[in-house]
Amino acid sequence: MAPIKAALLGFGTVGQGVYEALKTHKKQLESVFGNEVVIEAILVKDGTKKRDVDAEVLVTTDFDEILRIPDLQIVFEAIVGEEPGYTYLSKAIERGCHVITANKVMFAKYGRTLRAKAIEEGVGVGFEATTAGGTPIIRSISQLLQVNEIRSIEAILNGTSNYILTAIREKGLPFPVVLKTAQELGYAEADPVNDVEGYDAFYKLMILSELSFGAAPSWDTVVRQGITEVTQEQIELFELWGYRIKHLARIRKAGEQLNASVKPVLVDAHHPLYSVEGVQNAVTVETSLAGKVTIQGAGAGKLPTASAMVEDLTYVLQPQPFTLKLFKQDDERRASSNVNAQD
Ligand code: NDP
Ligand code: HSE
Repeated sequence: MAPIKAALLGFGTVGQGVYEALKTHKKQLESVFGNEVVIEAILVKDGTKKRDVDAEVLVTTDFDEILRIPDLQIVFEAIVGEEPGYTYLSKAIERGCHVITANKVMFAKYGRTLRAKAIEEGVGVGFEATTAGGTPIIRSISQLLQVNEIRSIEAILNGTSNYILTAIREKGLPFPVVLKTAQELGYAEADPVNDVEGYDAFYKLMILSELSFGAAPSWDTVVRQGITEVTQEQIELFELWGYRIKHLARIRKAGEQLNASVKPVLVDAHHPLYSVEGVQNAVTVETSLAGKVTIQGAGAGKLPTASAMVEDLTYVLQPQPFTLKLFKQDDERRASSNVNAQD
């Protein structure tokens, strides 16, 4: 059988993770799709850097070369910023490719447009990795939305900020030292302003808003504050009083109005996000039938983010209503129910 041909835009922390995950989980992917998923080409910015990839993989700085690959089915995008990511994914969709992105800066602004274009072209858009790293929050909300209405969302959405706040509290390390470690670990962006000033969590909250409510609040009405003004003294003092400072992204629907904020908040030990530590993200969704549902997992990093992108393959390559399989212990018998996919 012919392999499923894919291209990878970006070969930094996330791109390398996707490349590795496709290799280490080749058998699992083959068993799902019946075919191997093969990276045919990788787009990078700096064509002179040495890349640790198989000799047959085309490494290029020219996106048109990617578009010319015959029978290309999948474009993974893990580059930085609104452009050129948006233009590249638009062209890939026009070319008839499914696209899978981790780029929340781009997707917060252009996600709706890309999804509409993809519907016109009959392809899928995967964006699980844009929000909460390896934690399957997009899929979970999509599933809940089959019947429930979402009333509010409260979340820790920036792994770097949570990692920094945790390390300061647990180890008493200075902010710049912890930030540097977060960069070395691949959690923080190359320019970490987005992380520590709350922009990253803001973009992710806007993506969740579009998904959950079919709209986002006007961006300039959203309170956005990062963690740079939080001091070690405050963290230590509040800890003595039984509180932790968490960087929370919150949105609530009140009538037709969406009220959102992204800022440091004091929470006590009863709060569902109090114990979410380190690079973990967590999202509590308040729903009309299921009540409050909290989902937690790795919010950043090479393999958790790659997991979200590779898992999205199942969504874009199976765009018809998919089947939920409920396996019993040692029993292959399954109960199944049809649910609709995201688009
Ligand atoms: P890196 O900075 O590690 O890698 C970025 C990659 O994109 C590099 O390979 C770079 O090329 C390439 N690139 C940048 N600009 C261009 C361009 N104009 N044309 C072609 N290639 C380009 O970033 P990350 O891997 O950390 O993040 C990638 C994306 O995923 C970002 O949008 C980020 O917000 C998002 N993300 C990151 C997570 C993480 O944990 N790191 C988690 C979830 C999402 P070169 O190698 O030549 O410099
Ligand atoms: N820099 C981001 C974070 C990566 O720390 O959460 C995951 O989107």
